[in-house]
Amino acid sequence: MNAKTPSLIATDALQKITAPLSQAWTLPPQAYTSCEIFAAEVDSIFSKDWICVARIDQVKAPGDYICADLPSQPIVVTRDQQGQLHALSRVCLHRAMPLVEGQGNTTRLVCPYHRWSYELDGQLRSAPMMTGVEGFVESAQCLPELQLEVWQGFIFVNLDPQAQPLAPRLSGLLPLVSNYAFSEMQVLETIEYDSPWNWKILVENFMEAYHHIGPHKQTFEPAYPARDAEILDNEGQPWVFLKMPGGHRVTVEEGAFPALTPAQQHDLIAVCVFPTLLFGASAAGAAWYQLEPSGVDKMRLKIHGLYHPSVSGEPRAEDRAEVAAMLKLIHEEDIAVNRGPWQGLQAAMTTQGRLSLFEQGIWQLNQLWASGLGLKKPNHSG
Ligand code: FES
Ligand SMILES: [Fe+2]
Repeated sequence: MNAKTPSLIATDALQKITAPLSQAWTLPPQAYTSCEIFAAEVDSIFSKDWICVARIDQVKAPGDYICADLPSQPIVVTRDQQGQLHALSRVCLHRAMPLVEGQGNTTRLVCPYHRWSYELDGQLRSAPMMTGVEGFVESAQCLPELQLEVWQGFIFVNLDPQAQPLAPRLSGLLPLVSNYAFSEMQVLETIEYDSPWNWKILVENFMEAYHHIGPHKQTFEPAYPARDAEILDNEGQPWVFLKMPGGHRVTVEEGAFPALTPAQQHDLIAVCVFPTLLFGASAAGAAWYQLEPSGVDKMRLKIHGLYHPSVSGEPRAEDRAEVAAMLKLIHEEDIAVNRGPWQGLQAAMTTQGRLSLFEQGIWQLNQLWASGLGLKKPNHSG
């Protein structure tokens, strides 16, 4: 436990969070609404944990780059001319102008303000009109670089230079997802939302199927009933795996995801790599939810439909439109149950609530959150 954390959450509230599932409660309202708690999350979670910022297929060719925003650091992921990936601060070393936005392909990162230009590994190459500035050596200046690791085609970065590798911490998750061949998937279509609520509301919503009986009663519930869903034991590792069996209710198209087992062909899965990588998959396709929290009450959400080129072939415009429409339909059902609780959490009389046994995923997330903030020791998933 670090020195500043005891005051973040009252002792009795923490006991309710960390109690065994059948006795457990949700996080208290201030966990979602307090700027102090968000600042602690930035320091202890977003600056220490591995954060997914891009897919490998988004930076395939030398010169490709894509921007992403950690809560405390704008970054750019590049692939240099030697094929090496880099995660760099995208803040200019001169007077802090962001160097680029979006994604593209380039030979250099050129600051739009005074045209300082950087190689794709972050090395400053040239700075115009700096002759005579004492002690200024271009070759001695480099954009700060973050640790980078690729897991199943997802590019993760870590602001902590001492962070241990990610893959060993996901050893229990790998066999559960390996048949889906995420490494070979590509982004097909992306839809974006400004989501003016706390990031944990969306993560919790993604990791429970209990609400299929509410907003998704016409969409998910008939195929993947809330009552059949199960959360697997994560053995205290930083992931949550939600299995939603479809059984005979789900008809599998010929040729989709051939490596899946017969049971997997009928299931929907949802996965969180704590804190903010969310992805889901079925035999019909996959989706990646990319969250970029920028404050206690705001987040940019990019929902990417993923496809498998070796199975689906070259996508057509109508395939993209169909995927975008499906992602939009589902997310718009979820928006109501993100916005509503966000309003409810501000209310004076709102307190912690009891968790259903069908919300074990939220319970696991809460343990990871409390451990990440140093409020409790990491432990088994219970
Ligand atoms: S701020 Fe980038 S060159 Fe001046
Ligand atoms: Fe949902």
